[in-house]
Amino acid sequence: MILEILDTYEKMSDRAAEIFKESVNRNPEIVLGLPTGSSPVGMYKRICDDYKRGELDLSQTTTFNLDEYIGLPPEHEQSYHHFMATHLFNCVNLRPENIHLPHASAEKKQVACEEYEQKIQKAGAIDLQILGIGRNGHIGFNEPGNPFESRTHVVKLHQETREANARFFDSLKEVPEYSITMGIKTIMRSKRILLLATGEKKAEAVKKTLYGPISPEFPASVLQLDPDCRILIDKAAGKSLEGDTRYLEA
Ligand code: F6R
Repeated sequence: MILEILDTYEKMSDRAAEIFKESVNRNPEIVLGLPTGSSPVGMYKRICDDYKRGELDLSQTTTFNLDEYIGLPPEHEQSYHHFMATHLFNCVNLRPENIHLPHASAEKKQVACEEYEQKIQKAGAIDLQILGIGRNGHIGFNEPGNPFESRTHVVKLHQETREANARFFDSLKEVPEYSITMGIKTIMRSKRILLLATGEKKAEAVKKTLYGPISPEFPASVLQLDPDCRILIDKAAGKSLEGDTRYLEA
């Protein structure tokens, strides 16, 4: 793993957007895996600005989102369809047919999961997968205990994940209980992985990701198996590393 510690959330977002832009400019037909949540908002804002300045062309690019809540229609304000439209899709020139999110409102969820997995394979694997991380180590919505062999599947969200995400809803009971997520195996098949973590609340999760035992009990620990996985954090998220510089880029 390669660790980069940036001073602030703003600097982390600059760096993430820079990696995004370089990757797309190098290969305009790139297949991207994308997260939602607070962590990538600054990155998406910068990507939109880069696009407006004419520094980015996403017309040949394909995207696959990590996850979507079950029980929220795509137009619901807290659905990840809506999040992505607001923060990225409506402000860049991605073609609608190249944008993919799990079809969580499908009647047959299992079929929707298999179809999503097949679409990713048909696109020839994800070239750059960007991730956030939950305090309990979840990546995508792969909660603790989820097998490393999992592909796209339906998951029951853990109570702490629902509590963490309740900040976006009027109350905890409105937070969906289930979602469809890419599996750990789907994520790990990506050619490159970039994880973003910010703020003191993520400090313990960052430490366990880098140095904890590799175990499904802490899903992000699987990233230790990918020597090229790049982890971008701000200083606050690095608080528990106590000067450990093993993975710091020279
Ligand atoms: C969202 C996702 C989740 C989030 C994680 C962190 O698509 O896959 O794993 O990345 O819950 O969320 P934030 O960034 O809001 O702390």
